[in-house]
Amino acid sequence: MIPESFIQELLARVDIVDVIERHVPLRKAGANYSACCPFHTEKSPSFTVSPSKQFYHCFGCGAHGSAIGFIMQYSGLGFVETVEELAGNAGLQVPQQIVARRQDEAKKAPLTEFMGRAAKFYREQLKASPRAVDYLKHRGLSGEIAARFGLGYAPDGWQNLDQVFPDYKAAELAECGLVIDNEQGRRYDRFRDRIMFPILDQRGNVIGFGGRVLDKGEPKYLNSPETPLFEKGRELYGLPQARKAIHDGDSVIVVEGYMDVVGLAQSGVENVVASLGTATTGMHLQKLFRLTDHVVFCFDRDSAGDKAAWRAMEVSLEHLADNKNVEILQMDSRQDPDEYIREHGRDAFLAFSKNATRLSEFMVRELERRTKPTTAEGRAQMIHEAKPLLQRVTAPVLRVQLTKAIAKVAQLSQEEVEAACGLKPLNFGRRAPPRSTHRPVARSIEHQLLENILHQPERAARLPLELIAGDSPEEAALRAIADAIDHGELPTQLNSGGTRVGLLLEHFRGSEHEATLAQYTSALVSGDVDEEALEAEFGDALERLRNAGLTTAIAALSYKERNGGLSAEERQHLAALLMQKTAAAARARQRD
Ligand code: UTP
Ligand code: MN
Repeated sequence: MIPESFIQELLARVDIVDVIERHVPLRKAGANYSACCPFHTEKSPSFTVSPSKQFYHCFGCGAHGSAIGFIMQYSGLGFVETVEELAGNAGLQVPQQIVARRQDEAKKAPLTEFMGRAAKFYREQLKASPRAVDYLKHRGLSGEIAARFGLGYAPDGWQNLDQVFPDYKAAELAECGLVIDNEQGRRYDRFRDRIMFPILDQRGNVIGFGGRVLDKGEPKYLNSPETPLFEKGRELYGLPQARKAIHDGDSVIVVEGYMDVVGLAQSGVENVVASLGTATTGMHLQKLFRLTDHVVFCFDRDSAGDKAAWRAMEVSLEHLADNKNVEILQMDSRQDPDEYIREHGRDAFLAFSKNATRLSEFMVRELERRTKPTTAEGRAQMIHEAKPLLQRVTAPVLRVQLTKAIAKVAQLSQEEVEAACGLKPLNFGRRAPPRSTHRPVARSIEHQLLENILHQPERAARLPLELIAGDSPEEAALRAIADAIDHGELPTQLNSGGTRVGLLLEHFRGSEHEATLAQYTSALVSGDVDEEALEAEFGDALERLRNAGLTTAIAALSYKERNGGLSAEERQHLAALLMQKTAAAARARQRD
């Protein structure tokens, strides 16, 4: 973990306009800068950078964030690498944690070397084993394809690797998962009598293996354990080999198994990767979206495959932008892609893959299948299940499309679905409505407060938290911001005297509030900011909040009065509340 104080110092030091300008030419437009969005294709600029908020937002695709977020999204770097790069440019001393990470990298080098040597040994052993070669031939693989994927064979026997590693006792051998030390302290090869599928990282280094039995045996595939080199949720099998085809065809197919990748490549479908027996992760999708806008998930038609498809949908909803496209392809007749293409050939597979279901269609269809919306109860259940899904979607147009599709099936209006699912109406316009005519009636008080506070997070300290006790995501986010301010977790920006929204977003990166906040940031870059009007709006919202609180308290006491009566004390309290309410109404009349 990089200390948050360093992130704050970094964001205080860099100017987002400089950072972005290094990659995207910006034009001044009023108080802000604008450009054609680097994250989707467009002709007129809807990408806006606000120097005062140190924040960017695209009205087209919904991309947004701080300087850190921009570099992550633009260069595809991870969080730590991004911080490192920005710190370097700003001449900041890189914190110890990052230095330690670099040392980690240095420690990995020998492990990588061990894996490379093992892979070479397995390849040589394949040539020496007619039985292994026959197995691959029998599965329809040519020598060329075997070479392309670096396939090998781990011979039978307990300590074959001592032929390659004179120091068979070396700690590195265990650290990279090639050998196992048993309880008696005896060491033996992890992979024995298996076809070896090397797993490569982006640079082409071997970081792990999958090993398949040749005959029957358990487990069918034995995989490398997680090691300093190999983290399953990050890696995709076949990515280096598929990279060019993904680029050329501008799409990628994600399958379940090693053999699917290799078998499809054998038949000439090369834009294929596999997710190593783990569920799809956000990391997978982010990696793929850096290469192409079009991802097709292909799943076997069994219960594991169906579950995996739902999971892939959930993850995709979160990571989709409006210009990205995810499809789900479900195999049928119990053939996996490898078996299908061997039997029917490349063209049939490509034609079949045209049946892939758009993510939106898949979502509606699956919800229908799960909840049977032929009755009122079924339709209510459908909305109940759709809610957490819709809330994940940050791509604005996609969310509307999904909402509409669900509304149709649920026999509700789009607005009703939005209300039932707690979705904030999206603002597609280039500018927010002018502040003076900005009647807050249409938005809930929490929405208004949250948007307002993102302009100047210090205001959160003035929130009457006892009145924001609900369990909506907005209220939870408001409480969390107030808490962070209260505990001094969001120190003020050095040069602007206030916490900027970028700091706030970085503070909540990865938390449950991240997605909620993301829905409210577009207003930050809409037109020029009138601080006075914002302050007035904040006061107004607080007043409405107190009024609502009064109304609730009065209603509760009046109810009690009618049903059993009040104590003297309660009666007094009710009278006081009624007086406060009258005073508030008078103030409101004065203002209007
Ligand atoms: P499958 O059982 O569907 O095998 O596992 P497959 O891909 O069709 O393999 P072949 O055609 O029989 O050779 C799909 C994937 O799940 C993981 C592997 O990544 C495999 O490619 N898996 C499966 C394991 O990790 N261990 C196992 O024992 C089985
Ligand atoms: Mn198979």
